[in-house]
Amino acid sequence: VNIKPMEWAGGQLNMLDQRLLPLREEWITLRSWEEVAEAIRTMVVRGAPAIGIAAAYGMVLAARDGVEREVARQGLAASRPTAVNLFWALDRICSLPEWSFERVFKEAREIELEDLQCNLAIGHHGNDLIEPDARILTVCNTGSLATAGHGTALGVIRTAHYEGKELFVYACETRPRLQGLKLTAWELQKEGIPFQSIADSAAASLMRAGKVDLVIAGADRIAANGDTANKIGTYSLAVLAKHHGIPFYIAAPTSTLDPTIATGDLIPIEERSCEEITHIEGVQMAPTDCATFNPAFDVTPGDLITAIITDEGIFRGPYNFARVEAAAR
Ligand code: MRU
Repeated sequence: VNIKPMEWAGGQLNMLDQRLLPLREEWITLRSWEEVAEAIRTMVVRGAPAIGIAAAYGMVLAARDGVEREVARQGLAASRPTAVNLFWALDRICSLPEWSFERVFKEAREIELEDLQCNLAIGHHGNDLIEPDARILTVCNTGSLATAGHGTALGVIRTAHYEGKELFVYACETRPRLQGLKLTAWELQKEGIPFQSIADSAAASLMRAGKVDLVIAGADRIAANGDTANKIGTYSLAVLAKHHGIPFYIAAPTSTLDPTIATGDLIPIEERSCEEITHIEGVQMAPTDCATFNPAFDVTPGDLITAIITDEGIFRGPYNFARVEAAAR
């Protein structure tokens, strides 16, 4: 199934508005780098690789409009702090010798196409870890919507499904923004992969009942020691998996590795608005003026991660991505 979160066409960036899915499939048109930054901030587009690609196209619009490169870079970099793919893509564009529409467009296109290739490679490697009848628990949305296509953790599930494996997926709803319930369920349904959406709080009892063979999640930033920032709630799943003796995998492209950060303690964790907790779809659930704490991500320590599946292969702890990155260059 061909799902894309964005498409460059006719000199503008069209984006599927993920805030409206699954009930409405509407595309919006972004005409300036500022509009792209706003779309990332407000989560029209989300998912680490997808926001990196969006930022790259934001730079294309800036180059076309004669905006100073550093102005656009800083503006786009301020949109969301945790996913390193955003900064990785901006750095890649800014290290080009030329600041022209043609050159930046070529690079943005390459970033997008490379991400799709990475996801197919992640799917290929990850498929080796999936039994023919595996029951898989996943969180958030790590599919085509979160990437250039195919997906990371959901990409492994997709590949295994395409290989004819008879999978069953438990998709955690992923409060507060419900990316699992809205987006992952939408993608799984389109693929015809059997699944059930579950409340996040149902994971422990499912594992205890022996209904989960493995957990697989994506990543927003992986520190040199393998500590992994991902959607809030991922860490709880890793602790639960450890307790129940279930493998816990992270799937991510090498653009999500941050070798400059030694441990997860140094990863900046985005805190989002109070309304994401107190309201659901604009309807107030909490008492007026209820205080909230709303971190969008948590960090799973590397020692709870059975393996990290990347486009370059499967890594097992103790992780040292500072070395891997150096070797890859
Ligand atoms: O806040 P979001 O929806 O951007 O968070 C997304 C996630 O946490 C994903 O798991 C991660 O970005 C990997 S997407 C392939």
